[in-house]
Amino acid sequence: MLINHAFFRDYWQKKPLLLRNAVDLPEQNLDKEALFSLAGDENIESRLVVEHGERPWRVHFGPFTRSRLETLPDSGWTILFQDMDKHLPDVASLLQQFRGIPRWRIDDIMISYAVDQGSVGPHTDEYDVFLVQVSGRRLWRINADPGADRRLVPDLDMKILRHFDTEQEWLLEPGDVLYLPPGVAHWGIAEGECITWSVGFRAPSAQELFPEWAEEQQQTIDEHRYRDPGLELQVHDGEIQPQAVLKLQEMLTSALEQDPNDFGDWFGRHITQPKEHLYPLPNPELSTPQMLLEVLQQQPLVRHPASKILYMHNAGKLLLFCGGVSYQLPESCLSLAILLSEQDAWRQEELESWLQDERTAAMLIDLCQRGYIGFE
Ligand code: SIN
Ligand code: CO
Repeated sequence: MLINHAFFRDYWQKKPLLLRNAVDLPEQNLDKEALFSLAGDENIESRLVVEHGERPWRVHFGPFTRSRLETLPDSGWTILFQDMDKHLPDVASLLQQFRGIPRWRIDDIMISYAVDQGSVGPHTDEYDVFLVQVSGRRLWRINADPGADRRLVPDLDMKILRHFDTEQEWLLEPGDVLYLPPGVAHWGIAEGECITWSVGFRAPSAQELFPEWAEEQQQTIDEHRYRDPGLELQVHDGEIQPQAVLKLQEMLTSALEQDPNDFGDWFGRHITQPKEHLYPLPNPELSTPQMLLEVLQQQPLVRHPASKILYMHNAGKLLLFCGGVSYQLPESCLSLAILLSEQDAWRQEELESWLQDERTAAMLIDLCQRGYIGFE
């Protein structure tokens, strides 16, 4: 098993780990042909990184025509496909092998196809990442020294480290996995054509969370305004007096002080919100429990690959989150929350009784109508 107690104790966010022959490779292997077709899809975020050219490490954004890709040189370039787990359920199924890592931390599976000597250069990421070698071979060089020079080459499209001393290196073969905690410098160079899937887990920074949280706060914030009935004549009226500064600061911090429960509710909604271009299409037709049950007799209900379903215990309430919305449920629905958040598909017998309960039926219908769960 890839993810176990020892992994968290010894490696997670601590140090790199190389695992030989550690994953069952996806059955429906996306080969070069399939990836070149996906490169032409405007709904898929793709980037082409070319190491040598008029300027080193140029990044070009997709979609790309097949002829464009076919006329590229034989070596020194990579094409990256972001969020592939949100587009293809077969890709998302790899995440089953990473069970045990909180799902809210999952960012995406990025797929990279590289020709010989292709790489995205020496760099660091802010992500925990599992680099899964899917086909061909790639030489990974790493440097985990926190004191190493982390200055970047200026004026490039990519963040490329100016200096890179290889501390350790491994040649990865299909099925091998390299786990890297955030901040470890790495450089993966293809030996011949190769395909790597990067399973990325994000850790949001305060800088990232704050603007969105503050925006919602601003809508609900009570009117806090500066008041100074005790003001006295100020001889040097050009001075901003310390007590005024203190009062202003207190006004702002008290306006931002928030009930931790409200924060939890906000975070659940925030973290389940899909990226803008990944929203599922609504499906208003499925509007009654009977309709759902009827289709369930023929086929399972499935999670849209771009939808995250998570839950939280918050101030004695059970909250289920999906697509930026929270649903409050009684504690007796915990098994439903677990079922919805842990599985990608549900059979009739798993949902039948929940569709007979008015409250949970309403939630399931809402999730269907919003397109986060549905039928294939
Ligand atoms: C790659 O697969 O080419 C790059 C992945 C990474 O360095 O994070
Ligand atoms: Co990286």
